[in-house]
Amino acid sequence: MDNLAASNFIADLPKLELHLHIEGTLEPELMFELAGRNGVPLPWPDVASLRAAYDFDCLQSFLDLYYRGASVLVTEQDFFDLTWAYLEHCATDKVRHVEIFFDPQTHTARGIPFATVLGGIERALQAGEETFGISWRLVMSFLRHLSEEEAFATLREAEPFLSRIHGIGLDSGEKGNPPGKFARVYAHCRELGLPVVAHAGEEGPAEYIWQAIRELEVCRIDHGVRAADDPELLRYLADTRLPLTVCPLSNTRLKVFDQMAHHNVLRLLEQGLCVTINSDDPAYFGGYMNANFQALADELGATASQLGRLSLNAVEASWLSLADKARLTRDIRSYAASHGVSLS
Ligand code: ADE
Ligand code: ZN
Repeated sequence: MDNLAASNFIADLPKLELHLHIEGTLEPELMFELAGRNGVPLPWPDVASLRAAYDFDCLQSFLDLYYRGASVLVTEQDFFDLTWAYLEHCATDKVRHVEIFFDPQTHTARGIPFATVLGGIERALQAGEETFGISWRLVMSFLRHLSEEEAFATLREAEPFLSRIHGIGLDSGEKGNPPGKFARVYAHCRELGLPVVAHAGEEGPAEYIWQAIRELEVCRIDHGVRAADDPELLRYLADTRLPLTVCPLSNTRLKVFDQMAHHNVLRLLEQGLCVTINSDDPAYFGGYMNANFQALADELGATASQLGRLSLNAVEASWLSLADKARLTRDIRSYAASHGVSLS
């Protein structure tokens, strides 16, 4: 497939995004606008110098900037504006369904009420569903660099809102914060009937992926690319089809892979794993969904069939109803067929 054919195929391919931090969609222009609106000081004089600071050498160097940026989010309208801007990108990129993370602790620690955060994000998601037809789920994520006790406190704070939250996640600095640290919190979440996922095997070892599976009983792994280091784990993931939500541009920006040409996502796909493509923190990593798909075509030589199968995997990995999954599967298959591509 040449470049033009790939970008044509990608442009209108129906997609689902399952690994997206809403705070990671804060574009520099909106960050400065909200900083002005709320009188929040920023350490960068302007948008250009902020963008120049997007030169990360690891996950932690990114997280330091990301948490600082999130400090401009104060009012319900701020969370609405943030989420709405993301959904406009989704509409452009033909994203039909999103399952997005929010990090309440990033905000409640600054005195922003849980209801303000949830209310603004949810109102935008509802408006996005009406305007663009994008369906959605909301995943509350615990910050793993904080304590188990703080995660329990957040869960208690979330209790009045649990009917509006569809699942639980675990993010932030992975090294030194193994999934097992949250085994008891996760057991409680599962007892509440919530599906659970966790970031694992981004910078941390394959052993953390096993821990997320065995001790947290996750139904998906976020990232998980380090599974490639453990043949037994690869066999397990291929046999069970436990999904990995992979984020190619994020992985190269955070030096998980030194360049896209070395990314392993297509190898994992061909080994039968249920891998999906996602943008993680697109405002910081150079692109939304289509840019991630395009990078695979440009730098890994992904075929239209592989790109289509990645989208089908996301349907399989999603929390949509069986009827909605069947409808999206049909749409992806008939889109591919209209381009002469049959998806097995
Ligand atoms: N929070 C936002 N983006 C993240 C990532 N890529 N890994 C862990 N925590 C995150
Ligand atoms: Zn992530």
